[in-house]
Amino acid sequence: MTPTRIDFFLPGPTWVREDVLQAMTGPMMGHRSAGFKDLYASLVPRLQQVFRTEGDVLVATGSATLVMESAIVSTVAADILNLTCGAFSERWHTVCRNLGKDADRIEVPWGRAVDPELVRQALRRKRYEAVTMAHSETSTGVLNPIRELAEVIREESDALVLVDTVSSLAGARVEADDWGLDVVLASTQKAMAVPPGLTLFSLSQRAAKQAAGIAKRGFYTDFLRYRDNHLKSSTVTTPALSVFYALDRQLDVILEEGLETRWERHAALQAMTAKWSTAQGFEFASQKGFRSPTVSCLRPPATVKPADLVTGLAERGLVVGSGYGAWKPETFRIGHMGEVRGCDLEHLFGTISGILDVG
Ligand SMILES: Cc1ncc(COP(=O)(O)O)c(C=O)c1O
Repeated sequence: MTPTRIDFFLPGPTWVREDVLQAMTGPMMGHRSAGFKDLYASLVPRLQQVFRTEGDVLVATGSATLVMESAIVSTVAADILNLTCGAFSERWHTVCRNLGKDADRIEVPWGRAVDPELVRQALRRKRYEAVTMAHSETSTGVLNPIRELAEVIREESDALVLVDTVSSLAGARVEADDWGLDVVLASTQKAMAVPPGLTLFSLSQRAAKQAAGIAKRGFYTDFLRYRDNHLKSSTVTTPALSVFYALDRQLDVILEEGLETRWERHAALQAMTAKWSTAQGFEFASQKGFRSPTVSCLRPPATVKPADLVTGLAERGLVVGSGYGAWKPETFRIGHMGEVRGCDLEHLFGTISGILDVG
């Protein structure tokens, strides 16, 4: 395939290859048909490689928030601890509160990563059924130390570890089995570089067992219903079939590149961004040592308005993300994930430098 220059750097949805888009034109078929079951069954071993698990990896039709909500409905009766450090980790807390759970939270300031020792102290004070967290916090560009957080949770409690890897899966190391993660979830439109519409999630046996003790798990939110259908290579409801076709093609692309090579490419993109932004006088909004390899949240000098930069780039055919929520006026975000390569970023950086020189 002729490489196309990528000019789309949103932190999701991300740029999708032409052959993956073309795959979506595959024929309709019934989701209880043998053809669909074959397709579903062929995805599972490849998804297990991406999640680094020998356990179940399931596919839900819906965005990640559906599976966040499903995880809470299915596995938590009352007491849950939310680790928050930005808009998406806060979403877990909102979901829990809206469902009427007794949700406590450890809130660290935006831009900082969650300290595992804070979690240890909280777990010594109270028993929780689950702890939630975001791996790559897309609103701030922080990469939380999931391995260390999960280790502390396992040492101190029997709480399930529920992890949002929406903007890290296939772009940063995620080890569902080795790190002892019970639910790992990611929608398809970020570092997986598949169009939006599906969410992939792993479900540990511990999580399935805890779900079996929850009386009311809803219907679309019932993890055990997903698991029972999954065991028959089927889905709970009518799946977004076209996105399944895209996922099928893109999983081959990801595994042909190699997962570790893909993680290294993303780390190199982050390093390029760091070098360029330092030279430019732009500050990272995320804590040093905890920067996401897939998304950089940058704070330009006071003389540069992020909104003007985002607009100036759009006028030149380049798309980056604006800042998120309260950080919108002072930051902007570059999604360097999915299929983005160094040459794409060089073009972006050259264009930004050009805009600043003229300004
Ligand atoms: C880290 C993170 N979690 C959750 C979400 C919500 O995902 P979705 O829009 O697929 O529900 C996003 C979306 O940007 C995200 O970046």
